[in-house]
Amino acid sequence: MDAHRRPLLDRTPALLTEGYAWLPNRMRDSTRPVLRTRLLGRPALAVRGPEAVRFFYDESHVRRHGAIPAPVLDTLFGQGAVHTLDGAAHRTRKELFLPLLEAGRVARLTEHVTGAWDEAVRSWSRRERVVLFDEAAAVLTRGVCDWAGVPRRAVDADTLARDLVAMVDGFATPGPRHLRARRARARQEARTARLVEEVRTDAAVAPAGSFLERVARHRDAERGPLDPRTAAVELLNVLRPTVAVSWFVAFAAHALHRWPAHRERLRAGDDAFATAFAHEVRRFYPFAPFLGGRTVTELTWHGESVPAGGILLLDVYGQNHDEELWGDPYTFRPQRFLDRPPGPDELIPQGGGDPAAGHRCPGERVTVGLLQALAVRLARLDCTVPEQDLRIPLRRVPTRPRSGFVVTGVRAP
Ligand code: HEM
Repeated sequence: MDAHRRPLLDRTPALLTEGYAWLPNRMRDSTRPVLRTRLLGRPALAVRGPEAVRFFYDESHVRRHGAIPAPVLDTLFGQGAVHTLDGAAHRTRKELFLPLLEAGRVARLTEHVTGAWDEAVRSWSRRERVVLFDEAAAVLTRGVCDWAGVPRRAVDADTLARDLVAMVDGFATPGPRHLRARRARARQEARTARLVEEVRTDAAVAPAGSFLERVARHRDAERGPLDPRTAAVELLNVLRPTVAVSWFVAFAAHALHRWPAHRERLRAGDDAFATAFAHEVRRFYPFAPFLGGRTVTELTWHGESVPAGGILLLDVYGQNHDEELWGDPYTFRPQRFLDRPPGPDELIPQGGGDPAAGHRCPGERVTVGLLQALAVRLARLDCTVPEQDLRIPLRRVPTRPRSGFVVTGVRAP
């Protein structure tokens, strides 16, 4: 019998109970960077390492259409999102997001967010306690909406912040968190689709060059203008992941609490160190566990095969903690990125390959820019960290410090 036709147990239940450790646990016992398994009733092959990234992002190997399960689309990404497209349709839709790679736009978004942060910090000094994760989500929502040209009257920023967090928080888990995520998406897609229609009928103004204007005017390769629901999905595909940077803000606060020696260089405004710190937060702390695509043809990697119609998985969390790549993967050490900036296919918390040509996250520069600026502000924050539950459960996807990182006695700068 062919190696890949030997029956294997479906591992979906193990994934749900083991979370981030699911693939790394199984790969640990292997001498090769590959694992044959079954997922969602299909044969699957999990791979890791820079070479494997190039194998995974080769469009002749994998397609994204039909690869993302409906519960993930109905919560995290939205039906018809750029994440689900292939070939020419993907490239045309991706153009919508490419300005996110421009340094000037990243800087302007960072200015909007840091402005909202500095204003919020002044109000924290009047409060007994503040949950940094929640506050970061609110600040990021205000900043990104202003940057994207979403009129303030069109959104209730607090509800939007809660809904955007819920969409991320509930995508991978059955039960109440998932239901909250579905309701949040349905509510925000409907509101955002109305806003797009208003822009198209001149009932609302989208500032020239803003993302809101781009999405309202965008034309797909074959289908012309996006229907309002799809336009809403893509606008939310900028708002939601920007607000998801609040996960990294909570992780950055955690790192500065556990390893306070890093504060000094951040406080001093050492830009190179702030970039290295942002990279290390994204490498060390868990966010996306893995990425997946449907195999177009039979694929073989390091002697293991998966048939056409199976699943190819890129082990993101495993690669970011691979001993061969990082030496001491479970040590939080920003200096590793000062000695040597990461190769494009080595550090992959936001995917690999070329963001303009493939599916790599177009918001990576935005994420690093925001995280750098907010890490400096966290290091300078004059406050007390009271006793609290700072455990980060690896079974929960996505995870974060259980308390959300509480601070008290914030003193205004
Ligand atoms: C795609 C992670 C922030 C917009 C992705 C992918 C990952 C990811 C893993 C999938 C790559 C693939 O399928 O190959 C993250 C994380 C973020 C973040 C962990 C920080 C918390 C952002 C930001 C934006 C953004 C700030 C926009 C402002 C997108 C879009 C895609 C994407 C539009 C789809 C790209 C495509 O399919 O071509 N992101 N991202 N992300 N991200 Fe991000």
